[in-house]
Amino acid sequence: MSTLYERIGGEKAVDAAVDIFYRKILSDDRISEFFDGVDMAAQAQKQKAFLTMVFGGPNKYSGKDLREGHKHMKLNDVHLDAVIENLGATLQELGVAEADIAEIAGIANSVRDDVLNR
Ligand code: HEM
Repeated sequence: MSTLYERIGGEKAVDAAVDIFYRKILSDDRISEFFDGVDMAAQAQKQKAFLTMVFGGPNKYSGKDLREGHKHMKLNDVHLDAVIENLGATLQELGVAEADIAEIAGIANSVRDDVLNR
């Protein structure tokens, strides 16, 4: 039985998704400002870590790390919903099945309270 991460296409799929996802995030005026002044190399690494996690892949990030990592940003539900929406659109472009996209959105939602620090 394959994991969600394998079904999506593993590390290759993560790499393919990084560029599309990042472009969508940066052109979304609900959330783009949070990425102002964030270092590009660090950002690519962040996107990869983000996508690996929500794909259910090898995950180095605990809820506590996510809480600490986003604490300074004062994020709310609108911001998190926007990220999930952009992620879904990215995965649709890559031909990922709707059922898998729904499962991935569920994983992103499961860390909502950590990311929003509540
Ligand atoms: C499912 C929800 C989310 C997950 C799993 C997630 C995951 C991550 C991870 C793994 C990092 C890298 C941490 C590090 O190694 O330093 C990170 C950083 C970051 N995240 Fe998120 N994130 C989520 C939601 C959001 C949202 C909603 C926003 C803003 C709209 C956001 C903006 C950022 C920014 C700007 C950084 C870089 C911070 C910096 O370098 O100063 N994230 N995120």
